[in-house]
Amino acid sequence: MKTFPLEPIEKASIDELRGLQLKRMKATLAHAYANSPVYRAKFDAAGVHPDDLKTLADLAKFPFTTKKDLRDSYPFGMFAVTREKCARIHASSGTTGKPTVVGYTLKDIDTWATVVARSFRASGARPGDLLHNSYGYGLFTGGLGAHYGAEKLGLTVVPFGGGQTEKQVQLIMDFRPDIITVTPSYMLAIADEFDRQGIDPRSASLRIGIFGAEPWTNDMRVAIEQRMGIDAVDIYGLSEVMGPGVANECVETKDGPTIWEDHFYPEIIHPETGEPVMDGEMGELVFTSLTKEALPIIRYRTRDLTRLLPGTARTMRRMEKITGRSDDMMIIRGVNVFPSQIEELILKRAELAPHYQCILTREGPMDNLRVAVETRPGISPDSIEARASAKLLQHEIKVYVGSSVEIELRAEGGVERSQGKAKRVVDQRKL
Ligand code: DLL
Repeated sequence: MKTFPLEPIEKASIDELRGLQLKRMKATLAHAYANSPVYRAKFDAAGVHPDDLKTLADLAKFPFTTKKDLRDSYPFGMFAVTREKCARIHASSGTTGKPTVVGYTLKDIDTWATVVARSFRASGARPGDLLHNSYGYGLFTGGLGAHYGAEKLGLTVVPFGGGQTEKQVQLIMDFRPDIITVTPSYMLAIADEFDRQGIDPRSASLRIGIFGAEPWTNDMRVAIEQRMGIDAVDIYGLSEVMGPGVANECVETKDGPTIWEDHFYPEIIHPETGEPVMDGEMGELVFTSLTKEALPIIRYRTRDLTRLLPGTARTMRRMEKITGRSDDMMIIRGVNVFPSQIEELILKRAELAPHYQCILTREGPMDNLRVAVETRPGISPDSIEARASAKLLQHEIKVYVGSSVEIELRAEGGVERSQGKAKRVVDQRKL
């Protein structure tokens, strides 16, 4: 691989990094308190003032921010600059109610492009590469976030967005991109379309896939890498904190996203008590922005479950690949189940395709989980081998996850394909 210089901060010592974080954290708290009435009221109610922060650990004295805070101040109430100072607005569509609205000054857009450029470089991208961007454009941060970062790194961008799967394949074959940015679930749909057109995806020009916006397992990584003949790396982010590029894996290690800690300060807390836990312990990921202007975010509860790990390819800390969000956790007869646990077991079965959904139903007081999964093309759901595979899957879920579930085999195309984030949990209990 061609070498490419890192930014100095990526090579800084831990002490240097912590010093920069403290300086930036103080400035962020002061900015939020002075310019966002919502933050001022929250700090006052908690009896804290920005001057109370003397060390990074003092951050734990400050109140959390949640999605509800953003909803309650819809649309621009939490901003710390006037709307006129914002160059752009994004929003993430909640499943219910109003979207969560976020804003960016021109400087924020440039910071964001910088961290995405850094993410793509960590993924193995180099100036001059051609990038096919299949993240959705629009209010979702994926499309434009990836786009600006790619341009900043000196790549050529094809701003395709989601959908028109047949044409995605055509342009990948015709333009010969080096890199694809897309959700892992939509990558699978594109791979299926390659097969449908009779083209081996490994024969395409792609070298690297930068996948995120939804949980995906290490087994899925291996499956995609083999099928596409690429390196698959994980990009993490969320609109409330910035968008894609809050953290990104380094291609040489593929051991969980490195958090770009000079801009986003991570904590892990106990999801119920809210108490910070030690590095290495599992819990809910919380972020404080260190350089944002329009919407500084203080101790934002992501609802993503992971743990912090020491740096490897960089001095900055990593987060373990996120395999669950508290929102996606299903409780089946007292046992906590995440879709990713099911995914891992599906991927082990050669007769099954990686397209699946977890369907929750209720019979009387009991919650039931039905796993709808497709058989591989050419294998009928009624065949003996498919039925045997379903039995084994059911058994493995019982043994490894601890839950009795029902398996529903579907033929190719029987599980809805995503063009962005896959819907893994379908809750039919409220119907
Ligand atoms: O999904 C930003 C993004 C776009 C990230 C493109 C990566 C690539 P939101 O729509 O606000 O923003 O959704 C954020 O998606 O809290 C996680 O639950 C989930 N998520 C994002 N990246 C990953 C990932 C974008 N790499 C929410 N692994 C987050 C697992 C992820 N989950």
